[in-house]
Amino acid sequence: MVLRSHALLSPKLHFRVLEFRVYTEETVFCFNSLTMAEDGVPPLDNLPLSDTVEEAAFSQRVPIRSILCRPDAGAGLAGQTLKVGGWVKKGREQGRGSFAFLELNDGSCPANLQLIIYADVAPLGQFTPTGTCLHVEGVLQMPPEDKQGKQSIELKVSKVLEVGTVDPAKYPLPKTQLTLEFLRDYVHLRPRTNTISAIARIRNALAYATHTFFQKHGFLYVHTPIITTSDCEGAGEMFQVTTLLNEAEKKAIKNPPASQEDVDLAKSVVKEKGEIVAKLKSDKAGKPEITAAVAELTKAKENLSMVEERFKPKDGKLDYGKDFFARQAFLTVSGQLQVETFACALSSVYTFGPTFRAEPSHTSRHLAEFWMVEPEIAFADIEDDMKCAEAYVRFLCQWLLDNCLDDMEFIADKFDKKAIERLKMVASTNFVRLSYTEAITILEEAVSKGQKFEHKVEWGIDLASEHEKYLTEIKFESPVIVYNYPKGIKAFYMKVNPDKKTVAAMDVLVPKVGELIGGSQREENYEVIKERILEMGLPLEPYEWYLDLRRYGTVKHSGFGLGFERMILFATGIDNIRDVIPFPRYPGRADL
Ligand code: 4AD
Ligand code: MG
Repeated sequence: MVLRSHALLSPKLHFRVLEFRVYTEETVFCFNSLTMAEDGVPPLDNLPLSDTVEEAAFSQRVPIRSILCRPDAGAGLAGQTLKVGGWVKKGREQGRGSFAFLELNDGSCPANLQLIIYADVAPLGQFTPTGTCLHVEGVLQMPPEDKQGKQSIELKVSKVLEVGTVDPAKYPLPKTQLTLEFLRDYVHLRPRTNTISAIARIRNALAYATHTFFQKHGFLYVHTPIITTSDCEGAGEMFQVTTLLNEAEKKAIKNPPASQEDVDLAKSVVKEKGEIVAKLKSDKAGKPEITAAVAELTKAKENLSMVEERFKPKDGKLDYGKDFFARQAFLTVSGQLQVETFACALSSVYTFGPTFRAEPSHTSRHLAEFWMVEPEIAFADIEDDMKCAEAYVRFLCQWLLDNCLDDMEFIADKFDKKAIERLKMVASTNFVRLSYTEAITILEEAVSKGQKFEHKVEWGIDLASEHEKYLTEIKFESPVIVYNYPKGIKAFYMKVNPDKKTVAAMDVLVPKVGELIGGSQREENYEVIKERILEMGLPLEPYEWYLDLRRYGTVKHSGFGLGFERMILFATGIDNIRDVIPFPRYPGRADL
């Protein structure tokens, strides 16, 4: 049997780390010993370990993970000749320049493979700078006994296949500790750092877990449009998609706007040409002469009217009938409305894609472009919706514990010592459930006992982040689902409760982040939802298709949206949402 990327390839294997290896310079861990899962699957360390290892599919290298993340930390592979590729984290020449140690990372796991290369193979200086790319062949060997505490196995390089050199004087990411804020200026290079690569693997695992969870429960994955003509949340935070401005710009280049001086000059030319015509007439000049002068005057008048046209201030209104889609279009803020069309035909569905919000907030929890996971379930009420949300979040937490523990250990060590405890707590705890009215009572009680909030607490307010944090971090120290919000603060599509004051909405609040999920039972009654659209001052026409879902074969249904980056913030304890998305977009920044 060949062992590769075992955790991800074998989701049924649940591992527990007994011991992990700590590397000195930059703390990176690797599984060293794993024990048996509780589900009866044979423990990995009892399986016969192969003494060979395969190359990565479609790539001329053995992933470093396949070497170092075996239960024997690679020891059983000693003597193997193989190729690896990666980027040097740290390099140092030793033995008066007779050989060099290089720490190589290829992104397959947090740990680095140590290479040892002798000067008779190739000149060493080019290999040691941080950031150098190396593709090499060599033999795995056990390091000398006195060094074995540090390295389980190392690769003695016999052939350098390729080098991508780095000028250390110019490379922007030296090996010193760099802040996440500094790294935001180098989004194209930051994946080479331990932190950003660990987050990338955690993000990938959460995406895989998301599809696994919904597929396992019989949900169908639907791709909803990025470009939309209906505003889901009705909050007016949409980015507009138009080609009209390009057209207007092209016209403006050909026909730039005129100034007052241009108009005055054109007028003076008309006046001058008019005077010439008048003079010729009064002098009783010949007909051909007068005709030529009149032609000149006509040309000058035409020019004046063109200049005046260009001078006129425009009313700023664009004719969207002439736009690309022959109507106004936007980037989606949520795939919900469209995915509802599939739920009202295929029953259990979900969408997972990018969403865009032009909110000018500079907070650590908001992005202008973020990813959302949105299940939509027919024949389901708010109760079913809350159950699904809770099961999904708990599944994600357990998945990270089972499949990403090495990355989680690294992140916990560097950023949030409680991150793993939090995952374990959420995976194993029932979420607290409170109605909005109960939540307000709890907050009011807290205020009466001296708790200070910036925003006033009273029935009808939208819960602020400080209130959400109080509930999850102080009062309950657990995820909390708040449901039945006042209808005045929620979107038009949420089901109005029999009290007519609240809607069947629910938000999942978690420690560190606050709102992780927003969802609701949808209003399936045609008359009621039509009334709600009008009540909110929204036009009916763009929602006619949405109303059709209620006109024809209407069905009770519910769904929610999980902010994918907020989930990563929650899992890792990283402070700023800009560091958990590969290419952050926020007011003033859209690099690459
Ligand atoms: O609560 P929201 O606005 O809900 C919806 O959009 C619904 N249509 C979802 C549905 O029912 N299908 O957004 C859902 C989640 C929030 O709870 C939050 O986690 C995240 O999306 N979110 C953001 N994440 C990052 N940056 C922003 N600007 C975000 N706005 C919302
Ligand atoms: Mg919300």
